[in-house]
Amino acid sequence: MAIRLVFSSFLFLCANVLAIDVMRYASVQYSTLYSEFVDSEGKFYPSYGNPLELDWKSTTATSGWTSGFFPGVFWNILQYNASQESLKRAIAVTTPTAPFANVTGTHDVGFVIMSGFGNAYRLLKLPEYLNVVVTGAHSLATRYSPIVRCTRSWNSAQGFLVIIDNMMNLELLFEASNQTKDQTLYNIARQHANRTMHEHFRDDNSTYHVVEYDEKDGSVIRKYTAQGYADWSTWARGQSWSVHGFTIAYRYTKYQPFLDKAIGAANYVLTHLPSSTDLIPYWDYDAPRNSTLPYQPRDTSAAAIFASALVELSGYVTPDLRDRFLAAAKGVVDQLSSPKYMIYGDKQYKLPALLVNGTIGSYPKNPYDVSLSYGDYYLTQAVIRLSKL
Ligand SMILES: *[C@@H]1O[C@H](CO)[C@@H](O)[C@H](O)[C@H]1NC(C)=O
Ligand SMILES: *[C@@H]1O[C@H](CO)[C@@H](O)[C@H](O)[C@H]1NC(C)=O
Ligand SMILES: *[C@@H]1O[C@H](CO)[C@@H](O)[C@H](O)[C@H]1NC(C)=O
Ligand SMILES: *[C@@H]1O[C@H](CO)[C@@H](O)[C@H](O)[C@H]1NC(C)=O
Ligand SMILES: *[C@@H]1O[C@H](CO)[C@@H](O)[C@H](O)[C@H]1NC(C)=O
Ligand SMILES: *[C@@H]1O[C@H](CO)[C@@H](O)[C@H](O)[C@H]1NC(C)=O
Ligand SMILES: *[C@@H]1O[C@H](CO)[C@@H](O)[C@H](O)[C@H]1NC(C)=O
Repeated sequence: MAIRLVFSSFLFLCANVLAIDVMRYASVQYSTLYSEFVDSEGKFYPSYGNPLELDWKSTTATSGWTSGFFPGVFWNILQYNASQESLKRAIAVTTPTAPFANVTGTHDVGFVIMSGFGNAYRLLKLPEYLNVVVTGAHSLATRYSPIVRCTRSWNSAQGFLVIIDNMMNLELLFEASNQTKDQTLYNIARQHANRTMHEHFRDDNSTYHVVEYDEKDGSVIRKYTAQGYADWSTWARGQSWSVHGFTIAYRYTKYQPFLDKAIGAANYVLTHLPSSTDLIPYWDYDAPRNSTLPYQPRDTSAAAIFASALVELSGYVTPDLRDRFLAAAKGVVDQLSSPKYMIYGDKQYKLPALLVNGTIGSYPKNPYDVSLSYGDYYLTQAVIRLSKL
């Protein structure tokens, strides 16, 4: 606790050297969380938390959809601080998530395995990490329907549900396929991305959250929202997943329409932010703010996911677009790392975390103005990616 306070005041003094500060602050905050993880004998996987409280709501390594983000932050910290201790921590928090690779009951196997073992393999290239990634990919592949040409997101008696978030899970299939040359995994991921590109986007490149397909003939039954403001509205985090997901799909396929869609979805975000100087989206781009509904929360996780995606996307586009995307990514990261959105910005905040003002699902039904493990993960990913340019 004492260490955290010392760093808090340090950060106030140096708010202009942000990249270093975010990662240094992450090292400090996540040291506290690592101690909690050790004390819990490996059962503490922070998922979200109220910044005014000391404790995160946590899951175990193999429950929920968020357990990979905690390891993911440690792999990001390792890239900034390549010490034996950082490495030890990253491995210790990643290892218990391995059994998730055998889970076939949810598409979230992609989030969990790629944020932990995917990063572990990318950085260390150890074959045992690749084995877990490949196992996970085969689990996800069991959810594929050749009739719908997608992997199933949520299990439901209603229909075959695919959510835009699922674009992120394709990285598991693409990466396993690239390493093992398994063409089936590649085809599944490419088909899913292709169908999503045709069904989830509106003409202005905003996204529907959920598409319900008929499993028997592959037709679309309806398009709606589970976490956004309305069926027709654009849920901010979903739009960020689409930018990030199509950027990844292009990384592995080099299929031009995927790149065009990532750019289109990114342009939607850039033209719908609160203002040209206020770059942190409200939780839904269409949620009204008027006298009936005076408050709408932001979603800092949507901003972080978007910023990280933009850094990669900027590497695939023409020079002028590249400059525009990088400037936007830096702008978003600068605002996220300011006292307005970080734990160190308010003396009342107690949670060992980085970002506040994340929204979990739909407002006001679900927790909002909270810290989210995926907000911290994608913020640190964005900072690391920017620092490597
Ligand atoms: C790197 O990590 C180690 C172990 O957690 C810590 O002692 C050290 O202060 C960190 N260095 C920086 C620059 O954050
Ligand atoms: C997945 O299940 C198989 C078969 O039971 C087992 O051999 C393997 O170790 C499991 N993989 C992981 C990563 O837990
Ligand atoms: C994407 O789907 C369209 C229409 O269904 C098809 O014509 C095209 O070949 C597909 N592209 C890829 C890369 O699968
Ligand atoms: C796929 O794997 C090859 C080597 O097997 C590597 O050179 C290439 O960068 C990988 N592609 C991606 C998109 O990671
Ligand atoms: C939407 O994206 C497509 C590429 O998929 C692009 O051709 C189109 O111009 C974009 N539309 C808008 C309104 O930006
Ligand atoms: C505020 O927005 C809500 C939701 O769109 C709408 O029902 C309500 O009529 C609006 N109120 C005013 C005063 O514009
Ligand atoms: C962030 O969350 C706090 C509550 O923790 C709230 O008071 C503040 O207004 C929020 N900031 C923004 C910009 O929405």
